[in-house]
Amino acid sequence: MYYHRLGTIPAKRHTQFRQPDGSLYKEEVVSSEGFSGIYSILYHINPPTRIKTLKEPVPYGPKVVRDYALRQTHLNTSKVGDTGNDYLDARKVLLTNADCSISICSPRERKMNYFYKNAEGDEVLYVHDGKGVLISQFGKIEIGKGDYIVIPRTVIYKLDFEGGPLRLLIIESASPVETVKRYRNQLGQLLEHSPYCERDIRPPSELVTDNSKGEFLMKIKKQSFLHHYVYDHSPLDLVGWDGFLWPYAFSINDFEPITGRVHQPPPVHQTFQGKNFVICSFVPRLFDYHPLSIPAPYNHSNIDSDEVLYYAEGNFMSRRGIERGSFTLHPGGLPHGPHPGTVEKSIGAKETHELAVMIDTFRPLHLTTDGLEFNDPKYPMSWTDERAEGFNEVNSP
Ligand SMILES: [Fe+2]
Repeated sequence: MYYHRLGTIPAKRHTQFRQPDGSLYKEEVVSSEGFSGIYSILYHINPPTRIKTLKEPVPYGPKVVRDYALRQTHLNTSKVGDTGNDYLDARKVLLTNADCSISICSPRERKMNYFYKNAEGDEVLYVHDGKGVLISQFGKIEIGKGDYIVIPRTVIYKLDFEGGPLRLLIIESASPVETVKRYRNQLGQLLEHSPYCERDIRPPSELVTDNSKGEFLMKIKKQSFLHHYVYDHSPLDLVGWDGFLWPYAFSINDFEPITGRVHQPPPVHQTFQGKNFVICSFVPRLFDYHPLSIPAPYNHSNIDSDEVLYYAEGNFMSRRGIERGSFTLHPGGLPHGPHPGTVEKSIGAKETHELAVMIDTFRPLHLTTDGLEFNDPKYPMSWTDERAEGFNEVNSP
């Protein structure tokens, strides 16, 4: 990331910075990897340490299916509707391992009446449907359809969504979510061959300084519980901050695809990285232009990764089985590839308008009991059944 600042900060860090009444603002260093990673310095009106009430924690988290067999998997979540009442109730983890979790979230309530902090993981929200604003200590970010919202751990936030369809794909990461290392120079700037650059990243733009007093509930996620803290002041009490650690938005529509004469491998679609997993964006693009090229992907065995594809937009909706909002899981240990007849059919195709998000994990994912509810039992045999022709022929990695 890069340096950003909002509001008022003192000329020198760790020095006296006084409020109009003469008292000191309360400085807070928010740092990662101990004091070795990126950090920001925040200036509060109130001490961030002052708690009014500490309530009992509430168990929170997915249940893993332990006896799920090795098989190609399709989770059809296209018709799910609301997945819960509020933002945290509605987050349904479908697939998980120690490195990341993949959830859907379509809350009935569009505004949060509490603050939320994930104390153990970075979060990436992909806004499949929805429009609103992310409000955090770092300021406001307007968000809309197609946005990735990257929220570092411990950022205190709430979401206000407008009416209309609302559907989020949420990837929670045990490690920091970063831009792709091979696209960065030694000082962190995104290089010329990166599919996106700093101009495409939208940092918080409007600081909210709320000096009100009362009761402010914060739900903190850590170690399979939601911990309920009540503060006597708004956590949005910053007058300024600066640094490298802040939430941001990046639209999948600003990802510039890399294409070639022959079929390009999935890493050209990589958008973010975490430890032991990557997030990729499959966006509208021209197909391969070698005179003998085959736009459909080749069969392949991903011997050390599980591949999850989330189908966001495109004409796969007309195909058998897969719909807008479907997930497929192609686990390591099995080859996968185009469906019968689709390789020949793809020849001569010039472009695709499909849009998808892929999460590749280098350690196996586990299906959850919530995920199992969406399982399509016919999918493992869909390469054998000729009636599957036309299914997902070109965009799948
Ligand atoms: Fe694949």
